[in-house]
Amino acid sequence: MHTFQPYPIELVDMNPFTKIGKEWALVTAGTKAKCNTMTVSWGGVGVLWGKNVAFLFIRDSRYTKEFIDEGDFFSVAFLGEEYRSALNYCGANSGRDQDKFAQAGLTPAFRHSIPYPDEANLVLLCKKMAAVPIEECHFVDPEIMKKWYKDGDMHTMYVGEIIDLMAR
Ligand SMILES: Cc1cc2nc3c(=O)[nH]c(=O)nc-3n(C[C@H](O)[C@H](O)[C@H](O)COP(=O)(O)O)c2cc1C
Repeated sequence: MHTFQPYPIELVDMNPFTKIGKEWALVTAGTKAKCNTMTVSWGGVGVLWGKNVAFLFIRDSRYTKEFIDEGDFFSVAFLGEEYRSALNYCGANSGRDQDKFAQAGLTPAFRHSIPYPDEANLVLLCKKMAAVPIEECHFVDPEIMKKWYKDGDMHTMYVGEIIDLMAR
């Protein structure tokens, strides 16, 4: 596996609909002492508040949310198709009960002290800009609440400035 290279964001050529929605990503947060990762398929990338940003939607119940809330940074990492089972694992098991990196066959690595899975081929390193609770009162379409939040497990939207991007 080649080493990661810092990659100019201007050269990134990715389709967010397939990259995030179909290939999925791992969101990782925490410290060298303790970090956690989880699979996401909702979110996006773009420009906000004069910055290149990534935004994610993390439900209250996720253990990873505690790490994102506690720290100032998180990473969004994309892995090749050969890691689909690891992505499935990290999307169906909680780090509350186990070391998910080890169980999924992934290796935590760090840049600027921000954790990410070393097996990734593209990593967005993000500095938290905003944490916005998604609340029922803001839904224009009442179906959203009925369809996605029957159990009250709401999302928080995290917006992070992409401070560094690494590719293999
Ligand atoms: C394909 C896929 C996509 C997912 N996308 C999200 C998401 O965007 N937001 C979210 O809160 N949970 C999402 N999940 C669920 C979490 O990954 C899952 O609940 C995970 O076990 C949480 O781990 P944790 O408790 O260790 O943080 C997704 C799961 C899968 C399989």
